[in-house]
Amino acid sequence: MKVKTAFICQNCGSHSPKWMGRCPGCGEWNTLIEEVEEEAPAEFSFPPSDPVLYKDIKEAKKDRIETGIQELNPVFGGGVVLGSLVLIGGEPGIGKSTLLLQMSRDFALQGEKVLYVSGEESLEQIKIRGERLGLQNGALYLLAETNLERIMTHAEKLAPQIFVLDSVQTVFSSKLSSSPGTISQVREVASQVFRFSKRSQVSSFLIGHITKEGSLAGPKSLEHMVDVVLYFEGERDHSYRVLRALKNRFGPVSELALFEMGSRGLQAISNPSAFFLKERPTEEAGSVVVCTIKGSRPLLAEIQALVSSTLFAGNPRRMTIGLDHFRVAMLLAIVEKKMGFGFAGEDIYINVAGGLTLDEPASDLGVIASVVSCLKNKTIPPDIIVFGEVGLSGEIRSVSQPLARVKEACSLGFKTVIMPQGNLSHLEKEDIPEINLQGAQHIKQALGIIL
Ligand code: TYD
Ligand code: MG
Repeated sequence: MKVKTAFICQNCGSHSPKWMGRCPGCGEWNTLIEEVEEEAPAEFSFPPSDPVLYKDIKEAKKDRIETGIQELNPVFGGGVVLGSLVLIGGEPGIGKSTLLLQMSRDFALQGEKVLYVSGEESLEQIKIRGERLGLQNGALYLLAETNLERIMTHAEKLAPQIFVLDSVQTVFSSKLSSSPGTISQVREVASQVFRFSKRSQVSSFLIGHITKEGSLAGPKSLEHMVDVVLYFEGERDHSYRVLRALKNRFGPVSELALFEMGSRGLQAISNPSAFFLKERPTEEAGSVVVCTIKGSRPLLAEIQALVSSTLFAGNPRRMTIGLDHFRVAMLLAIVEKKMGFGFAGEDIYINVAGGLTLDEPASDLGVIASVVSCLKNKTIPPDIIVFGEVGLSGEIRSVSQPLARVKEACSLGFKTVIMPQGNLSHLEKEDIPEINLQGAQHIKQALGIIL
């Protein structure tokens, strides 16, 4: 029998009958790899049944197992659902194995039986990490193996409550001839684990390596097959890590958990605002604290601006880190036009301290305040925080969750909040904490109060 092959793009998963230098699907170069066309792995299907009236359907209560890390439970929607399949993606070295080993340790201590399979490291290597994490007794089983069929045989026999596979790219099924990490292998691995999970009501975790550009799409192509997709991210030069949900069949996707990588593994950051403000200079012009919402939680962050005369006449630099470049360009234009400043001869650098990214228009007022503070060389009082979206006429527009932001500022000891007048007018008087709230309708008015 002639073996049928196809060329599959490792970036987007699209098929092509012949080799091409450039993928017609996603436009990436050199991503087509010849793989044997196998029968599509059977995805999990429900037993045959008849249509049922909506009102007769019983509400299924999801049984959940809490992780040992309190800050992590909301990301799963309140705990890991029994029999769910979770994909955890992230760049190599970000801490996925560490996180899963810590979670496994805690599950085992709670009395769950855990099987942690590693296709990447030997048992001795895992033990070295385990020593750092203070692994103790408990039913935590480790297996170093890359053959999927053998892994699944062990898993069936051991019948754990929690199953971890590290990683989908290193494990291979002997049913397929393509090499580990190719799209068809990765899908086969996921679908076998999926079936095992559902059949035996085991909560399973798959680890997948993803590069910054999101290429190496193996794991990306699994997103529709699994119940929960989590991404573990962070900057290489910063110790903090963020775990966020991209998809969750059993909970919201807005939640995130923050961790700090230390010498004894990942520590949850229970007060992120204090963490990101701890090295803030208080007597320098150009620095301001804003309140943004990350997930469902408010987070205080510092925006810094530096304005200095340019060496590139006619083409001054505009550099931003942690903010949208185009949005900042727009805000600078508003300041020039509406406040009458001219900075055609100035380089402007704007940075969010601590490597954070602010992607919410509520930070607009903070960007403007930091730039004007630096331009005027006037310090913004350190106990002020600002938030508000800024429109093209310089008007300050309402943002979501004003009360949560005000409360966060209050709990960290800030004295004054400059906020959109529209938000202030709608706050219920009785809920407001003891803090000085100042509403503003225009950036001129806001800057008049701050500077
Ligand atoms: P790891 O979990 O191996 O990353 P991944 O599985 O995502 O590839 O973690 C890698 C990094 O974390 C590595 O550079 C070492 C560091 N690390 C610590 O800083 N402290 C620790 O306690 C541990 C276990 C790891
Ligand atoms: Mg790893």
